[in-house]
Amino acid sequence: MRAYSENARREGKRVGFVPTMGALHAGHMSLVDYARSACDALVVSIFVNPLQFDRADDLDGYPRTWQADLDMCAAHGVDVVYYPTADLMYPQGFQTKVSLGPMTQGLCGAHRPGHFDGVTTVVLKLFNAVQPHLAAFGEKDYQQLAVIKRMVRDLDLGVEVMGRPTVREKDGLALSSRNVRLSPQEREEALCLWRGLNQAREMARGGKKKASRLKIAAEAEIKAVASARLEYLEIVAADDLTPLEVLDRPARMAMAVWVGGTRLIDNAPLD
Ligand code: PAF
Repeated sequence: MRAYSENARREGKRVGFVPTMGALHAGHMSLVDYARSACDALVVSIFVNPLQFDRADDLDGYPRTWQADLDMCAAHGVDVVYYPTADLMYPQGFQTKVSLGPMTQGLCGAHRPGHFDGVTTVVLKLFNAVQPHLAAFGEKDYQQLAVIKRMVRDLDLGVEVMGRPTVREKDGLALSSRNVRLSPQEREEALCLWRGLNQAREMARGGKKKASRLKIAAEAEIKAVASARLEYLEIVAADDLTPLEVLDRPARMAMAVWVGGTRLIDNAPLD
């Protein structure tokens, strides 16, 4: 992988990179299309990273759609699909972790022990292999995007990290590889996340500044759905993810909700 990128760089090409865990959908493809338009050589990685799963059943049940993923990459002009094995990534004796501070401790980090260490460790290893000029990540995993931007800055990695808007179904459901696990009824119920975010956004647009009031309104949308269980709902500063009590700077509402047996996350800016 590195030889390919070194060669591309020698030829003056700009290397673009989209790291994924496969089960590709239109959300991933919007990252691919963006990186394709901004770069000369485009790499997608497919690696279901065991280090970032806090539950074995989640790792085992993670959707794997290898052939469809390859077809999609080919159709969108991807030059290289990099798919290391777990043994290659984490050979026997592997013991190094990249671990960030407070930004990884709230939101998803508070409920998925070790998750962000797993993400930052694998992303650094992928960056080392792919040597990209630019890497694109979705805003749907907003905490992940913010954490990776911070890692790149803190460790002087010299990769341009590009956050791209969440792609949604027509009715607002954020695209996610986990959506395939929803039954038709759960699929409908999952819209409570989007309704909650919209409720808060409307209030913020209307001038409401107290985070607690916006949170109560958004929570009501989740609580109205019997099969939905709120894991967390938080309003944080858009840059460093500090929890906010008042909307006095660019902010983001982020939430994780279990719908039946599926954990969904979503977020939106509060302008
Ligand atoms: O967002 C993902 O799919 C994963 O967390 C990533 C960035 C590919 C690291 O495994």
